[in-house]
Amino acid sequence: MPPDVSVSAPAKIILFGEHAVVYGEPAIAVPVTALRAQVEIHPAEPGAGLVIESPKTRHRFVYHPEDDPEAQSTLEYVARLVLAHFGADPPDVTLHLASRIPIGRGLGSGAAVATAVARGLVGALGETIAPDALNSIIYEVEKRHHGTPSGIDNTVVVYEKPVFFVRGQPIEDVRVRAQFSLLVADTGYSTPTHVPVGDVRRLMERKPERTQQVVARIGEITRAAREALGAGQFKRLGDLMTENHDQLQRLTVSSIELDLLCDSALMAGAHGAKMSGGGRGGNMIALVDNHRVEPVMSALYAAGAERVIKTRVSAH
Ligand code: PMV
Repeated sequence: MPPDVSVSAPAKIILFGEHAVVYGEPAIAVPVTALRAQVEIHPAEPGAGLVIESPKTRHRFVYHPEDDPEAQSTLEYVARLVLAHFGADPPDVTLHLASRIPIGRGLGSGAAVATAVARGLVGALGETIAPDALNSIIYEVEKRHHGTPSGIDNTVVVYEKPVFFVRGQPIEDVRVRAQFSLLVADTGYSTPTHVPVGDVRRLMERKPERTQQVVARIGEITRAAREALGAGQFKRLGDLMTENHDQLQRLTVSSIELDLLCDSALMAGAHGAKMSGGGRGGNMIALVDNHRVEPVMSALYAAGAERVIKTRVSAH
């Protein structure tokens, strides 16, 4: 049966400030609109119940409201929160989830999948939900997963707009004067985020003065980047990205592969390039003018990227 409707949510990526954000400096994250989690809503026979299926992760279950919430999977928990929000019973519908977002690569896959499923269920109920209410639900889901998440992933994913974030402070919008393109290249491997985060903490203990200086410099770069975004100064923004990468190298969280991808992007004409997220693998990003997309993309593949995605960050 063709779906009644399909809904989706984007991936996210950190543009500036990773690692320094752990020490109170700001970070900027943006949606990756080209990479999405999608949910198709398929109406089902009366009595069929709410079925959520995800072939990629080989999940398929019928939602049972009486199940212990503690024992429920993440997607069941999303369904529980959405149904509770509307005081509704599970509808007879199958939600078919298909996500192109790699898991565990700092791309906000968890928040995007939860948001897409929540939107699918809201649609199946014939309801609408305010973005603030949806954001609160997805934050609850993130908490269950990550303990004390910053809230950056759910906010970028739900509102699909860039944010400026300082730990413990309300998340702020970022003005983006003009649209720009990013290439997101995957090294093909990843290290769990807590490993580089722990290494930076040890570096901070062993060499506090030098490490604190690097962290403070990343903070300045991120604040300058916010200005450059607001003014539409992409050459400057690119330079700031490249300098942010240099500082991340000093924190020891880059890798040979990430450095190679950044250098190759710059040599092929990118305005700037840096690793993104936890580092030691994962993704890098390059800021490119439209006419340089092809050569930079080819250079990234030639330098060993497993996958390169072009995404646009819209003006806000
Ligand atoms: O890879 P991501 O998007 O989960 O980002 C990690 C960002 C760090 O600053 C390295 C860690 C953190 O908790 O902020």
